[in-house]
Amino acid sequence: MEQQNTAPVSLPRIGDKAPAFKAKTTQGDIDFPKQYEGSWVILFSHPADFTPVCTSEFITFASMEKQFAEANCKLVGLSVDGLYSHIAWLRSIQEKIEYRGHKNVEVKFPLIEDITMNVAKAYGMIQPGEATTQAVRAVFFIDPKGIIRTIIYYPLSLGRNFDELYRALIALQTADAFGIATPADWRPGDDVIISPAASCSSAKNRMDGKEDMVCQEWYFCSRKLPKEEVLKKVLNKS
Ligand code: BEZ
Repeated sequence: MEQQNTAPVSLPRIGDKAPAFKAKTTQGDIDFPKQYEGSWVILFSHPADFTPVCTSEFITFASMEKQFAEANCKLVGLSVDGLYSHIAWLRSIQEKIEYRGHKNVEVKFPLIEDITMNVAKAYGMIQPGEATTQAVRAVFFIDPKGIIRTIIYYPLSLGRNFDELYRALIALQTADAFGIATPADWRPGDDVIISPAASCSSAKNRMDGKEDMVCQEWYFCSRKLPKEEVLKKVLNKS
């Protein structure tokens, strides 16, 4: 892996540009995040090839790859294992493992080899209190401009919740598309939040029910956003 920037002294944060790197993957060389410009990308790490939790996660990611692609989002995996280990593990998964009804699963998205740990360190995936020689289960949501928009870290023993990963992606895209925020546990079709800054100029009208927003208080205004509108604008589905 050829790193393009000097090793950061701090971890990447939400709102930062995703650290750039070039690396080898199971799908050829990668120039990250440059080659993903225009797409969302989920860059995720796993602790080690040939381990059970990671195997269940790869089968789940692969089975949802089309669903993520329909939301203009590509998947990229990473661990500190080498390329031949990655290739052997993915082949074994396809030939031998069934998880939750998914079998013969081919992992088509790239899996980065990071034996130097340079990428893992640049992304804060090595968290020494948890493991010094393996990456934790990190998930970086990176937008079409290469900006980190959400980061989720899980420890080694905890497999990720893929409903939540997909929900977070759609919520981020919905917030961008409609200029709103999404409340706790939001899913498409639920009411969305109008930020106080955007709502206070005509809060009185809203509190009187004269606009389509409902304000319970000046800091808690919401409006309807039908699921069909989200599907149409975010997923191009009519
Ligand atoms: C697993 O994927 O099963 C795993 C990997 C590293 C430590 C513990 C569990």
